[in-house]
Amino acid sequence: MTTPPTITTALTELTGVDHPIVQTGMGWVAGARLVSATAEAGALGILASATMSYDELERAILEVKERTDKPFGVNLRSDAADAPARVDLLIRHGVKVASFALAPKRELIRTLKDNGIVVVPSIGAVRHAEKVAEWGADAVMVQGGEGGGHTGSVPTSILLPSVVAAVDIPVIAAGGFQDGRGLAAALAYGAVGIGMGTRFLLTSDSAVPDAIKKRYLGFGLDGTVVTTKADGMPHRLLRTEYVEELEHQGALRRLLPTLRRSVRYKELSGLSWPALARDALSMKKATGRSWGQMMVAANTPMLLKAGLVDGDTGAGMLAAGQVVGLIDDLPSCEELVDRIVAEAAERIAATAATLR
Ligand SMILES: Cc1cc2nc3c(=O)[nH]c(=O)nc-3n(C[C@H](O)[C@H](O)[C@H](O)COP(=O)(O)O)c2cc1C
Repeated sequence: MTTPPTITTALTELTGVDHPIVQTGMGWVAGARLVSATAEAGALGILASATMSYDELERAILEVKERTDKPFGVNLRSDAADAPARVDLLIRHGVKVASFALAPKRELIRTLKDNGIVVVPSIGAVRHAEKVAEWGADAVMVQGGEGGGHTGSVPTSILLPSVVAAVDIPVIAAGGFQDGRGLAAALAYGAVGIGMGTRFLLTSDSAVPDAIKKRYLGFGLDGTVVTTKADGMPHRLLRTEYVEELEHQGALRRLLPTLRRSVRYKELSGLSWPALARDALSMKKATGRSWGQMMVAANTPMLLKAGLVDGDTGAGMLAAGQVVGLIDDLPSCEELVDRIVAEAAERIAATAATLR
């Protein structure tokens, strides 16, 4: 077998990885094992820190550094009460890339950049891309509506070219990618690489229990649904019975189990009640949601954890992109990255050959 050509873009140059592929930060999923396997495969792995306490994040960073000396990133929530302390942690441990789940704060971008960290916020709208570009972000990751987890309504095929046209910084395409055709298409749109969540969750290197991975593989192209009933924000989840029910249940019936899980989440996250309340308050301010919706929002992390970490096959809340319907295997990160690069190179060559 001949070695496929390498694909070099502004993404590989900025971050020092071999291939223009990002394993995105996924709460409860993107831990040290997946991130280091992705890094070893030559792509950019991003630790998800929103579901980790500060100490857990530090342990995860140290574990990745033990397993690989390749570059990796950390996904941060800029509205978390301890966001500045987490930024210091990244600086102290020489983490290469910082990504942000929600709009980052200007001062955090400046501090990270002053310390040589590459800043790549995730955005779901053109105006957010323009704002973070103005604030000095090095690149943006655009997530189209087909993506898993919190998502918007504009599909990648429309949002990506809009953002590429609107900003001068490199744009990474996410939402709906799983193979080399997708990488070739994203590059043709003017992106510098692809970010994938669902596809990396469904690898043998992800720590999600096997029974849950098998469950994901059973869902087809219509196997996901976007609901605001989980935490008030549009959230793309597998179309389980629980989610179908949630869509039709009143707020009152959801309240009691919500309260119980909030107590459990507090224990698990290691956050104090004042810290949780501060997080909730800043989230409330940022989103304008009612306290009832905030309570349901507090429920969501525990429901996601039940499936993704504890392996409860009855768990009804599992974040997934529409692309789950195209996925039918569990390769290692290395197999996945190699085959995507080889297929993308083949597609680019085949496309170029149509030129006369
Ligand atoms: C299980 C799961 C958990 C996620 N958790 C987060 C998160 O904590 N922070 C974040 O910025 N994005 C999160 N996302 C979104 C992904 O990072 C990524 O943008 C998305 O999965 C891309 O779409 P795809 O699933 O079609 O590849 C999550 C997605 C999934 C599937």
